[in-house]
Amino acid sequence: MKNHHHDIDDMKPFAESCEQNKDPILEVLSEQLEGASRVLEIASGTGQHAVYFARHLPHLHWQTSDVPENHDGIQQWIDEAGLANLAPPLELDVSQADWPELEVDAVFSANSVHIMSWFCVEKMFAGVARVLKTQGFLCLYGPFNYNGRFTSKSNVEFDRWLRARDPQSGIRDFEKLLELGRQHELRLVHDYEMPANNRLLVWQKARVVEF
Ligand SMILES: C[S@@+](CC[C@H](N)C(=O)[O-])C[C@H]1O[C@@H](n2cnc3c(N)ncnc32)[C@H](O)[C@@H]1O
Repeated sequence: MKNHHHDIDDMKPFAESCEQNKDPILEVLSEQLEGASRVLEIASGTGQHAVYFARHLPHLHWQTSDVPENHDGIQQWIDEAGLANLAPPLELDVSQADWPELEVDAVFSANSVHIMSWFCVEKMFAGVARVLKTQGFLCLYGPFNYNGRFTSKSNVEFDRWLRARDPQSGIRDFEKLLELGRQHELRLVHDYEMPANNRLLVWQKARVVEF
């Protein structure tokens, strides 16, 4: 994880990026998830976002998840926060066949789709569509490309850094994500501009129309 380190006298994992983006994200989520109650976070990472959003959005039940190697760190943040509306991490690698049995009003994930392979991104959208209630929201935060172009020089460099580390990773095309959404009845309803050339994309699971 970029900017991920363990502090010397505080052994919780810490990502500087979360400190910088948590308030702008909270601002969007507080409006977008006003009517939601159950939220699944995919790729909780350090656990910082989960604690912050669960604390500031007490009407939500916030379910953390990630691959097992991140669970200890997430749990440390959860234990310290002592919040009744914040749940211990579920084991969730988006490519696993058996996703947890959940039915949620929203899914939130930050800085995840450029880290995982495109295969995993496809699996993630399929899984999200299954666990989301009809009319539920998928909120995806991160950098995205538009019309095949990077939106900043820093994103060009970030993408280069990502691909050198893992050729399967990289900043995703907005249009490809839209197409993927369409395949799973997920309709884009917002594209929020966020600081530092990031976006917060929001999809809504279409109502299933019965004839
Ligand atoms: C850059 S970190 C972002 C973490 C956190 N959401 C944040 O904003 O700081 C990328 C995260 O994606 C997770 N991840 C990578 N591949 C994954 C997969 N196949 N399924 C679920 N999570 C995955 C990693 O474990 C890590 O927590």
